[in-house]
Amino acid sequence: MNMSIRQIHPVFVGEVSGVDITRPLSPDEVAAIEAGMDRDAVLVFRDQRITDEQQMAFSRNFGALEDARGGNITKPEDKRLQVGMNDVSNLGRDSRPLDRDSRVRLFNLGNMLWHSDSSFRAVPAKYSLLSARVVNPVGGNTEFADMRAAYDSLDAPTKAQIEDLVCEHSLMYSRGSLGMLDYSEEERAMFRPVRQRLVRTHPVTGRKSLYLSSHAGGIVGLPMAEARILLRELNEHATQPKFVYVHTWRPWDLVMWDNRQMMHRVRRYDESQPRDMRRTTVAGDTPTAAQVQTG
Ligand code: OGA
Ligand code: MN
Repeated sequence: MNMSIRQIHPVFVGEVSGVDITRPLSPDEVAAIEAGMDRDAVLVFRDQRITDEQQMAFSRNFGALEDARGGNITKPEDKRLQVGMNDVSNLGRDSRPLDRDSRVRLFNLGNMLWHSDSSFRAVPAKYSLLSARVVNPVGGNTEFADMRAAYDSLDAPTKAQIEDLVCEHSLMYSRGSLGMLDYSEEERAMFRPVRQRLVRTHPVTGRKSLYLSSHAGGIVGLPMAEARILLRELNEHATQPKFVYVHTWRPWDLVMWDNRQMMHRVRRYDESQPRDMRRTTVAGDTPTAAQVQTG
């Protein structure tokens, strides 16, 4: 095995070299990547000319792919990519940038808020893998914030205060904060809030992290305004520059991150030009909190 991982930020993020992820990997390589994820939480692979099929196959080394249903408002017939691929581009089926007032475009602008993928699902995502197929000429960097380092640096009273808190997450909260408040009955049912612990513990390393996300819009047992002030304060703390890595994309970069211990966001870019980014998502295996029984 020729693979090696070099940390490229003071607290997290590894750059991986000596591996071709378009080909089947050896068990040693898979184990080394998992270990790298546990330590660095974000891994950068450069120059990986990968197809959608190869990206899905690489992702399956780390678990089953997440079922994307319930995570967006794009109708199946309007999807540009096959099942198993999350389209994070600004493109429609015709491969042209979406119109300014397209509801799908406006919904996707939510990726510019700090979030953790699928925190709006009862069983939230483990890893996300994002491949840059067409890089936008202006902006469009993706930023990652280390929620373990952010947790570690909280003072003891705050740690004690938040230890057992449970948040409510929904796509209607993240998009609601952008003024998108109109949803059909079907969407409301699909986006029903789920519960997530505010502090979670990594199953392998035992490290604690803040489980924050733009989807979090309430805390069980707290008045909403109080919950949102607390969440806002924690988000400000957690996204200080010292906890953030800024990724400047080159074509054929693939960046993989652990949603259980990171938040991320994309910065604004020139939406008249294409930005073709394709994500695969590895499903998580357990809820972080008991859900409210419905039905
Ligand atoms: C994502 C996401 C950011 C980006 O793929 O989950 O938030 O850079 N993408 O497009
Ligand atoms: Mn995301």
